[in-house]
Amino acid sequence: DSTITVAPATLDFTAVPKSLADVVAVPAGYTVTVLYRLGDPINAATGAYANDGTDSTFSARAGDHHDGMSYFGLLTGASTPDAANSARGLLVMNHENISAAYLHPTGQTLVNNARPEAEALKEIECHGVSVIEVTRGATGGWSYVQNSTLNRRITPNTPMQFNGPLRGSALIRTRYSTDGTMGRGTINNCANGLMPWNTYTTCEENWAGYFRRDTTDNAARTAKDVTSLNRYGITVTTNRTGNNRWSTVTPSDSSSTLYSRWNINVQAGTAADGTGDFRNEANQFGWVVEIDPYLPTSVPRKRTALGRMNHEGCWPSVPVAGRKLAFYMGDDAQNEYLYKFVSNTPWAAADATATDRLAIGDKYLDSGTLYVARFDATGAGVWLPLRFNENGLNASNATYPFADQADVLANVRLAGDSLGATKMDRPEWTAVNPATGEMYLTLTNNSSRTLANTDAANPRYYNDPKGTAAQRGNPNGHIIRLREDGDTSEATSFRWDIYVFGAGSDLNPTNINLSGLDATNDLSSPDGLWFSRSTNPTGQVNPLLWIQTDDGAFTDQTNCMMLAALPGTVGDGAARTIVNLAATDTGTRSQSTFVGKAPGGSLRRFLVGPKECEITGVDSTPDGRALFVNIQHPGEGGTGAAPTSAWPASQAGTTGTSRPRSATIVITKNDGGLVGL
Ligand code: FEO
Ligand code: CA
Ligand code: CA
Ligand code: CA
Repeated sequence: DSTITVAPATLDFTAVPKSLADVVAVPAGYTVTVLYRLGDPINAATGAYANDGTDSTFSARAGDHHDGMSYFGLLTGASTPDAANSARGLLVMNHENISAAYLHPTGQTLVNNARPEAEALKEIECHGVSVIEVTRGATGGWSYVQNSTLNRRITPNTPMQFNGPLRGSALIRTRYSTDGTMGRGTINNCANGLMPWNTYTTCEENWAGYFRRDTTDNAARTAKDVTSLNRYGITVTTNRTGNNRWSTVTPSDSSSTLYSRWNINVQAGTAADGTGDFRNEANQFGWVVEIDPYLPTSVPRKRTALGRMNHEGCWPSVPVAGRKLAFYMGDDAQNEYLYKFVSNTPWAAADATATDRLAIGDKYLDSGTLYVARFDATGAGVWLPLRFNENGLNASNATYPFADQADVLANVRLAGDSLGATKMDRPEWTAVNPATGEMYLTLTNNSSRTLANTDAANPRYYNDPKGTAAQRGNPNGHIIRLREDGDTSEATSFRWDIYVFGAGSDLNPTNINLSGLDATNDLSSPDGLWFSRSTNPTGQVNPLLWIQTDDGAFTDQTNCMMLAALPGTVGDGAARTIVNLAATDTGTRSQSTFVGKAPGGSLRRFLVGPKECEITGVDSTPDGRALFVNIQHPGEGGTGAAPTSAWPASQAGTTGTSRPRSATIVITKNDGGLVGL
């Protein structure tokens, strides 16, 4: 096609300025179309969204807080895959959380100190995943197909199957699944993965917050249980009601446990193995979940071999026939780890077109080795295996006595502590360069990084110019990247460097703006991260890296954003020394050496979102001509009576006080060319 630039790839758009406006801004020559908004109906029987807090039946509407997302091509006229189809496909996306203030007429209510069932059901069903059919019309415009039989909502109430080493484990037995093989639903689904056999993985991130646990519960549990609960943040130190207090609902169906299961207190008089209550319900969350988007009746599978954590995303290595696939995963909390799962089974290219897709998932995701990363100051790194009975991961472990591999996987944080993995500045998305195989990881920020515990991979400690204690540490975040030794996904060691440090362009170049960012590319708190598809005609030359932000330290100057980059390769920067300032900002206190580069002209701002949003979730059609992006929680600080954003109504210039809605947009180039290049 004559409109495609093949080589060398260069960024071909004018940088979008930082902005506080209530619109999605993109470069000249591009068009934004709003595609799929909170509340949009996904079948013919469900009415249009009133957007005034009176709507219900979210099991048949778009959920809230759109997040990670992938596009799956559909064969024309059929419901089967055509990975190359750029005109008709399934868009699968996560609905991470809710802006409850906008879901009800006057916000969340309590009646006799309990949540009304209808409100709680609405909030529960606004979480989960959407599968929707999208099509490109004759004139090039995109829309979703409201009455497609392929449309599906997966919610925290959808039955799921447990696979891998935890299947049948005593750790996940509940009143609902007394044999520990099934569970209900998925929650706080953050980033995602697109599997080479045409399935979607959704990742459970901040699940711990939803559970009620009272101060009396510690005494009813073993010391080992309490160690595990505390390590995942399910402590009882506050009045722990659980997010949204769902467990307080009195259901109209008195036999229903859809609400009581959010209360994980050990219930007196129930079986010690947990089959009479929901004491183990929290162990049912924190997993990577695989979904076959082409089969609306398929039961999603929780892939326990990949470990239990605050899973951000799960991105595969570039498939190479005969070589074991790797899957890269961040655990997003302060000072947590980067993980890699390596399948036992080498990749067979024929599996890319297999029809029993979840069985192929069984083959690659149920058995293998989970590793945790240690980044060394030399620029080398090691993948430490999380295998039961190796390196002290056994019953005599001083941190936590591991009983078996299921216990290691359900408590990988404790295993990682024991192995001396590197505590990172909040590991968010992973992305893999399809041309080089190099893996990139966003480290979004870390307000608890101290001067004393900076290391080569997490080297910054400074005061944000705002000067609040909460902004100390590494408030602007960075992106680290690694290249596996021998360029193989099976490697147990790697080289790494830092690709870019987030910073305002006006900040100190010796300890904050270390990458020399300017007004066209300054950013803070990188989070979403994705390389353009290699099916994009320029993909083989120099794939485009897309960076999305979720920021609280730069929002005085700009709303959150998305940037495009042509990032180069590991080690193409120079070794440099960073001078970290003391907590009091009075002088130099520590120095650490890192390898980094100044991205300069290869990094450019492509999009700025509306007020109080996060930009998260991105994919394109296989031809790279339509880019799908999610706008999460615009106006998240407002209320139904006083919204702080009117997006997406405001995108068309409409004024007024319309309640804001999370939504998917599609970005196309007016000349029909490749987005970004
Ligand atoms: Fe859901 Fe770590 O972002
Ligand atoms: Ca994120
Ligand atoms: Ca984030
Ligand atoms: Ca968010």
